[in-house]
Amino acid sequence: MCEKIEILLKDKIGLNISSVGTASVQNAIKRCLVNSGCDDLEQYYQMLLSSEDEFKRLVEMVVIPETWFFRDDVPFDIFSGHIKSGWLIPKENSRMLKVLSVPCSTGEEPYTIAMVLDKSGFPADRLLIDAIDISQASLDKAVAGVYRDNSFRSADLTFQTTYFKKIESGYRLKEKIRGRVNFHHGNLLKDDFSLMKGCYDVVFCRNLLIYFDSKDQKSAVHKLHDLLAPDGVLFVGHAEANNNVNSLFKSLRLRGAFAFVKKDGDESHSVVGDYNKRFHAFSKKHGSMLSVRSRHTSADQVLKNSARNKPFSAYMGIAGYETKNDEQALVSKAKELADEGALEEAESLCLDLIARFSNADAYYLLGLVYEASSRQSMAESMFRKTIYLVPDHAEALVHLALHAERNGDSGEAQSLRRRAVRASQ
Ligand SMILES: C[S@@+](CC[C@H](N)C(=O)[O-])C[C@H]1O[C@@H](n2cnc3c(N)ncnc32)[C@H](O)[C@@H]1O
Repeated sequence: MCEKIEILLKDKIGLNISSVGTASVQNAIKRCLVNSGCDDLEQYYQMLLSSEDEFKRLVEMVVIPETWFFRDDVPFDIFSGHIKSGWLIPKENSRMLKVLSVPCSTGEEPYTIAMVLDKSGFPADRLLIDAIDISQASLDKAVAGVYRDNSFRSADLTFQTTYFKKIESGYRLKEKIRGRVNFHHGNLLKDDFSLMKGCYDVVFCRNLLIYFDSKDQKSAVHKLHDLLAPDGVLFVGHAEANNNVNSLFKSLRLRGAFAFVKKDGDESHSVVGDYNKRFHAFSKKHGSMLSVRSRHTSADQVLKNSARNKPFSAYMGIAGYETKNDEQALVSKAKELADEGALEEAESLCLDLIARFSNADAYYLLGLVYEASSRQSMAESMFRKTIYLVPDHAEALVHLALHAERNGDSGEAQSLRRRAVRASQ
């Protein structure tokens, strides 16, 4: 019977149960059933069909609101560079800048966008930031703008002093930033966004597509394509730059950020035009693009952040792998391809490396690539092979811990995490 409810969740919000773990969804269903006062699952299922509020309560229990300020760092460096080079430097550019964060969860991502724009001196009266999420509880927290330590996980926390006030229950975001984001309730898969067609200059859609199956990913990608302006830039999460995104978008091939423009977009427009050339020239001059490697040098940091949301090179860079011979040069090449979103090429290079050298790094990278294309059990098997070859491979251990959590095996997850901590020491 849980199955019928799982299908309902899949139909209505796109939740692919295997992406979050069957055990955790079934537990959520059982808890909601108890709170609903229904006698059994069939009665509860009927209630879900007839009561929108009851369905919303279940949604709150199954969504993953995990997020934090400046999550992954690099996309925000790229975004800042894009704004400075494309929107601030051409002085004649007086267009309104419209940015969308979907899903925005508890607000950390859109507020990060607002802080980046404030820091770059972007005029507030030329700015519109919309933020959408399906979880009303998350949106309520976002609007309240009070955050605890868990939302501050990035290596550089200087923004905390600038934009937050310490209060008893945590940190309150200053009004100046809070007032710049408009929060809306919405379902990316089901809602009609046709009124906003071509509206947004930049769209952040990170860490949502991973919860959808391929069919729903395709329809979400179409929606994102519709929402984005012809010369707009789309940021997705590192595990999401897959074939569905590549079918409508073209990667900007910027290391550590999965940034895309429309394949059928308006390349001649001032903002995109020769974006890569202008952006690189700009970052060389202003040093705005920080290298992923220099940002993530401690193994501690990897373990602090949720491992599945870091760029590939951050993982690989941490172990300090260098290009010393053919084998290592090929690993570096595979890593580079994965970083740029060329997942198929990265996969075939890894398979080649494994066949020729049984290389542990190649197994690990292949695990990341499989994760990125939602092949979770294959990813898990690659991480197991990595630790078989290198038992103290901290990053592979962290990934295995996440897989164990997802499979509902918290004992195994804890033991893997402990091993990862020991390995990183
Ligand atoms: C892991 S958070 C990602 C937040 C942020 N983008 C980030 O990367 O830090 C995923 C969010 O997706 C939201 N969500 C799930 N399904 C959705 C849907 N169909 N439409 C809109 N939001 C959805 C959840 O409520 C949750 O807040």
